[in-house]
Amino acid sequence: MADARITLHPDFRRGAVDRRLFGSFVEHLGRAVYTGIYEPGHEQADEHGFRRDVAGLIHELGVPMVRYPGGNFVSNYVWEDAVGPVEDRKPFLDLAWRTVEPNLVGTDEFLQWAEREGIEPMMAVNLGTRGVDAAAALVEYCNGEAGTRWADLRIANGREKPYGVKLWCLGNEMDGPWQIGHKDAHEYGKLAAEAGKAMKLVDPSIELVVCGSSSMQMDTFGAWERTVLSYTYDLVDHISMHAYYEEHDGDRASFLASGTAMDRFIDRVVASADAVGAERRSDKKITISFDEWNVWYLETRFPGESNLPIQRDAPRIIEDVYSALDAVVVGDLMVTLLNHADRVPVAALAQLVNVIAPIMTEPGGEAWRQPTFHPFATTARLARGTALDVRVDAPSYESKRHGAAPTVTAAATVDDDGSLGLFLTNRSDQVVEVDLAHVGASLSLTEGHRMVADHEAAAHGPEHAAKVADACWSTVELTSTVLEATEGTTTVRLAPESWTAFAGTLARA
Ligand code: AHR
Repeated sequence: MADARITLHPDFRRGAVDRRLFGSFVEHLGRAVYTGIYEPGHEQADEHGFRRDVAGLIHELGVPMVRYPGGNFVSNYVWEDAVGPVEDRKPFLDLAWRTVEPNLVGTDEFLQWAEREGIEPMMAVNLGTRGVDAAAALVEYCNGEAGTRWADLRIANGREKPYGVKLWCLGNEMDGPWQIGHKDAHEYGKLAAEAGKAMKLVDPSIELVVCGSSSMQMDTFGAWERTVLSYTYDLVDHISMHAYYEEHDGDRASFLASGTAMDRFIDRVVASADAVGAERRSDKKITISFDEWNVWYLETRFPGESNLPIQRDAPRIIEDVYSALDAVVVGDLMVTLLNHADRVPVAALAQLVNVIAPIMTEPGGEAWRQPTFHPFATTARLARGTALDVRVDAPSYESKRHGAAPTVTAAATVDDDGSLGLFLTNRSDQVVEVDLAHVGASLSLTEGHRMVADHEAAAHGPEHAAKVADACWSTVELTSTVLEATEGTTTVRLAPESWTAFAGTLARA
């Protein structure tokens, strides 16, 4: 008897996988921009000063969309100070990260980089220290046709064609007391409604993301969503969710259950949004923009924004070094996101380069992949088409932080041509055998990759990342992993504390 059973059928469909689910995030924070994506003078820099080696890794990671410019940074950002001739731009003191921002990269530099790299931008407006006027002006600057003040400024700055930015965040984490210009739910809801209204009057084709709670642990969680949506329900398309997970006190079992916590969080936000919709007797469904998610040692390694000294010249801030266990958790969080593809069309791994990131760089030096890079890139590559409604029958375990959690999790996608992506996590510390039941459908597994958690302490540098990858990230040998493939059931063996991805085909028999 197998330890768990997973039922797959191409007709059990959950919803199309929006490519924006594999988005990421670049904030003006630490070395994400300067010496991250942008480093003029680096031997890999292009003629615009952006690093080709980093762009190459971003493509390999499979990121189709990048959120910008914050994060907490956006809540005190004056975007007008970072457009126009670079020599006229003044540095400003960013209070979110207590860092002197040189304003060398601004809206035009970012949007043109994104365009050259074929990446969709997701922009955020400042609803902390600013409001309706600056937000609408930025939409006009980005998307307006010639003949109005801000569109003409863009043209004068050398960019004739509108950028056509579709996705816009109405501020960032406005429920958080750490946010510059923090607001209560009524203040924010009213401001978001007015700013969003003006932004859509400039360009009715844009999609708007309203701030949800910055985590499920906020005291205002739930009430915040209800109040904010009561002002903005008819206007916005998505509500944002943010969540970071970390291992506390060596409690691997709880850490490995992070995907279950994320799962509950999504269900609760969906329920809150639908409750507002039901009250309004609305047929509209608000979807989720999970625009910050990752492993981040926020409570155990980060001293807190207000304890940072004032710094300049791209300081090293929150450059978490990841282990194979962190990478297993990242893979499992992606399983959760795929299992909510019907309500989560947009997500952003926070962040992309250097700051809690899958890609690291050294100034003047190499760029390399952290362990978390591998499950992300593999999922972005293999998860295509439609997410399936996968039924998992597996024993649960009791985790201290997140309560009952299944030992095995799974997500699957099928494309129109029958190509299958199958993603499995074994959260237990034992080998498990899993029956993949596919009655009425034929299944074949042709390719596999896995990350196995190790106990190695993380250390900075490409050597460490390569060492972890060599030891923990491997191609699955199908002959020893696929134990049995009969009509209707295929049995696979999963290593302890591991994340596995298979490619293959699944077709109606
Ligand atoms: O991603 C780092 C920070 O985390 C972001 O600036 C903020 O939105 C969140 O609290």
